[in-house]
Amino acid sequence: MNDNSKKPVLVCVVGARPNFMKIAPIMAAIKKQEGHLQPYLVHTGQHYDEAMKDSFFRQLGIPEPDIDLEVGSGSHAVQTAEIMRLFEPVLDDLNPFAVLVVGDVNSTIACGLVAVKKHIPLIHVEAGLRSGDRQMPEEINRVLTDQISDLLFTTEKEAEKNLVAEGIDSKRVCFAGNVMIDTLLNNLKKATPFSEVLSRHISSYRQNIEAKNYALLTMHRPSNVDDEAVLSRILDTIVEISQKLPVIFPVHPRTAKMIEKFGLTSKLQSGNITCLPPLPYLEILGVVSSAKVVLTDSGGLQEETTALGVPCITLRESTERPITVDQGTNVIVGSDSEKILSSMKEVLERGGKSGQIPEKWDGHAAKRIIQKIIEHYL
Ligand code: UD1
Repeated sequence: MNDNSKKPVLVCVVGARPNFMKIAPIMAAIKKQEGHLQPYLVHTGQHYDEAMKDSFFRQLGIPEPDIDLEVGSGSHAVQTAEIMRLFEPVLDDLNPFAVLVVGDVNSTIACGLVAVKKHIPLIHVEAGLRSGDRQMPEEINRVLTDQISDLLFTTEKEAEKNLVAEGIDSKRVCFAGNVMIDTLLNNLKKATPFSEVLSRHISSYRQNIEAKNYALLTMHRPSNVDDEAVLSRILDTIVEISQKLPVIFPVHPRTAKMIEKFGLTSKLQSGNITCLPPLPYLEILGVVSSAKVVLTDSGGLQEETTALGVPCITLRESTERPITVDQGTNVIVGSDSEKILSSMKEVLERGGKSGQIPEKWDGHAAKRIIQKIIEHYL
């Protein structure tokens, strides 16, 4: 037993790629506090590949998880149940004063449910975001996690209104800012230049793509990639766009699987599209920051493009991050070809939407969160 064993334990949970960028500054802020609490990092193993996990831990300086539950992939029910089953004994062993979860993935709700049923207070970082689209698994995860949370940290002021409308006491809500932007600001200088990213992954790369003269595409939402007609339509649109502006496309494992399953690989080859594997954080940051425009269905990239002032065209019907539209560089277009093409025209002819940096997206969100947790519980 070392001295740490006497300190109150805060269990922090990560599971999937977007969680890693959110937990990194929180772990760093805990390290800087003066020994009030002892973190215990649980990785559920929802994401497990080198490209989807290890590279993020290394590049973002996240400490090795204290435990990896190694749940892997599965249906929502299987994955969620497996995380719950394996997380319960961890809490039994540690008896933490609270459990902290981030974001909206299956690991978030699974660990949250286990904690509250053991009467352990749950802390949710990135609370109150709502797309209103309950077809998205993440929306269900957000609503339910917020309902069972004891302390809720928001990234934008409007989020508190969503929480209050769902009956959550505003005294439990704290507007702390955006931890994902903490990570972005901490790492921007270290980002890998986009041309180096391309030559790292493509041995025949000839430096023929210029900064601010390409589009970055990312997509992995089931609504875009699991339906053959939708995926095929989006890829046709991207091929058309690529005739005017080269497209760089790091392909998420889910999307790669579906492109192959539906036999759509030749479509990709018919355009000026450079496909890459999923990229580590410093590489994607380099590619995003030099892009002329980002086309995406990611939640995180909508925020990162706003923080970087890069125009973003969101391939979804709604967003849970409205501040990126109201104040930032984001437009929401869905998967309709005409809408995507007309937003692209706007980018090509007039440079696309410019915006401003939202309040408290200033690199200090994690510090505010840890201060508040110490004041509130210890
Ligand atoms: C999950 C999150 C989503 C997040 C996304 C980021 C949920 C409900 N969804 O979606 O909110 O935006 O992560 O990536 O939690 N796979 C691999 N290697 C891995 C992980 C997954 O190849 O390391 C493949 C597997 O074939 C798996 C598929 O990707 O079946 C989907 O993975 P899963 O974690 O179920 O969902 P994501 O689509 O990644």
